[in-house]
Amino acid sequence: MKIDGTAYRSIWVDPDDGWSVRIFDQTRLPWAVAVLRLTSVAEAMHAIASMQVRGAPLIGAVAAYGVCLAVRADASTEAMERDCAALAATRPTAVNLRWAIGRMLTRLRNTVPAERVAAAYEEAGRIADEDVAQCEAIGRHGVGLIAEIAARTTRRVNVLTHCNAGWLATVDWGTALAPIYMACERGIDLHVWVDETRPRNQGAALTAWELGSHGVPHRVIADNAGGHLMQHGEVDLVIVGTDRVACNGDVANKIGTYLKALAAHDNGVPFWVALPGTTIDWTVAEGRDIPIEERSPAEVTDITGRTADGRIETVRVTPSGAANPAFDVTPARLVTGLITERGRCAASAEGLLSLFPERR
Ligand code: MRU
Repeated sequence: MKIDGTAYRSIWVDPDDGWSVRIFDQTRLPWAVAVLRLTSVAEAMHAIASMQVRGAPLIGAVAAYGVCLAVRADASTEAMERDCAALAATRPTAVNLRWAIGRMLTRLRNTVPAERVAAAYEEAGRIADEDVAQCEAIGRHGVGLIAEIAARTTRRVNVLTHCNAGWLATVDWGTALAPIYMACERGIDLHVWVDETRPRNQGAALTAWELGSHGVPHRVIADNAGGHLMQHGEVDLVIVGTDRVACNGDVANKIGTYLKALAAHDNGVPFWVALPGTTIDWTVAEGRDIPIEERSPAEVTDITGRTADGRIETVRVTPSGAANPAFDVTPARLVTGLITERGRCAASAEGLLSLFPERR
């Protein structure tokens, strides 16, 4: 997707040295567009844990390149297994992390140490390219939902999204935002309500920034505003991403997603979840088995922003301590359907298996 007219991916290998890994530091957006250079598996682990990179598919891609950096430093089987286990422990909820590391290990365990570096970069490149293709396909399968609403109304289509499931959360296109970008390309008159997404404000900081950079009309709303807007007919459709889908169609996503699904259900607003197949956890039967990350209370008690004179400052907003569950599970019964790279389906075991019959 574009920043000021130039297309970028969210992760790439530095063309000058051919091995170090470039990412945008998402902790500095929207105030600064800073590109970081990752040169070791420790830096890749820090990038994931500190949320310099975040979003399920991008976490997977960074982990894959983290494995490249690990075997570049030490290609022995012992070191590779140790580093992969450490990478897999950086964040618990997004299943793409473990999926990508598992895929890298499957390839590298079958490769002699002397050939592991080349094989690792090839496999990580494939993971990144496939993610782009999957997200583009999600866009193609999802844009019809927006087009159908546009065809029945003379006013603009209002889509609500939560957190950031755009190109910054994937390698390109995004999941929830891919249909939105494609609708814009088709000239559909649409507007996006962007949930601010406390505590880390991925909506206010990242989704608003990437939609603005690409020229998509949008406004940020307080997390509590969505229900009111739905009651007043101001939301035609909700599309969110997910960090892990259970076999029964339950979806884990950024904290607050469940409340939006409840409000959408109460108001008859379609609630769709967009995901690549890599986000389905075929080992987890139900959403309650998905591990929910508990992050630092400081993310709730403190807020970072830009002062009027341009300084970036962090201030305390609560007098006491806080709890910070970072994800919640939306039960499948509240999900209108899933948008995947293979098409749309019901949020159910049957729905998922109809698109992924090889998992039967
Ligand atoms: O904690 P984050 O910012 O990594 O959480 C991200 C989300 O919850 C996204 O909605 C999800 O990963 C889908 S991203 C395509």
